[in-house]
Amino acid sequence: MESTSSTGQSQYKSKKDSLLSPTMILLGIMPIFTFALGTWQVERLKWKVKLIDELQEKLQRDPLSLPRRINLSALADFTYRKVIIRGKWDHAHAMLLGPRVYDGTNGYHLIEPLVRTDGTTVIVDRGFISQDLVDRKAYLQDSSEVEVLGMLRTGHVRNRFTPDNHPEQGKWYWADIETMAQYAGGEQASVQSVFIEEIFEGHAGDAAWRVSHGIPLGRPPSIDVRNSHASYIVTWYSLSVFTTTMFVRLLLKQRRARARLPR
Ligand SMILES: *[C@@H]1O[C@H](CO)[C@@H](O)[C@H](O)[C@H]1NC(C)=O
Repeated sequence: MESTSSTGQSQYKSKKDSLLSPTMILLGIMPIFTFALGTWQVERLKWKVKLIDELQEKLQRDPLSLPRRINLSALADFTYRKVIIRGKWDHAHAMLLGPRVYDGTNGYHLIEPLVRTDGTTVIVDRGFISQDLVDRKAYLQDSSEVEVLGMLRTGHVRNRFTPDNHPEQGKWYWADIETMAQYAGGEQASVQSVFIEEIFEGHAGDAAWRVSHGIPLGRPPSIDVRNSHASYIVTWYSLSVFTTTMFVRLLLKQRRARARLPR
């Protein structure tokens, strides 16, 4: 009677600790799974680095002069290319895109159509204006012909939390180029849905002066593509190492326990 019960117990025990218990299976899969995810991120990183290199290379090229009429379907290939455009600002259709923050100061980006002397009108993000100075409309003083260095961009992709634009109330939350071009007069007024971000290449003092005088401050000529794959790689591979260690430790523990079992 006593011997049967002890056999039953040891059978139960070895079953519970067997290699095929759900915990062990899970622990065995985790290192492989996380390793695969890490490897996938390595591929993503390679791809992203290549993309950034390509964009950098585009950005280094000499500025284009835009044709009179811009072929909108070819535009995507020219993203991040520098362009030089000439014309007059259409201040009547100035748009304030915001809220935006620059160096801890709240404000907007000033978007204005540029009526090109030798072609169609395009939409230009002239850059940051602080909230406190926006009503002074210092930018309105620019009524002569200007030459602008900028870079071609696509419009913004809105996310779930971006509110709707309300052009009729002068409220712009994201750069919806189609709507902005319509607002500026649309096809009838020869406005094309082309979005250019003005480039500012001056030094920091110059930038600060602009911000303190309500003069729009353009963006630096740089690529703003997120690249967080390196940190994902570290995370996934660390998890893989960690779960492997757990698995091996548990395996050894089971072995020891089994070795101690009376035969
Ligand atoms: C516009 O660009 C597209 C894509 O590059 C090209 O297929 C098309 O022929 C161009 N159209 C004109 C009118 O040049």
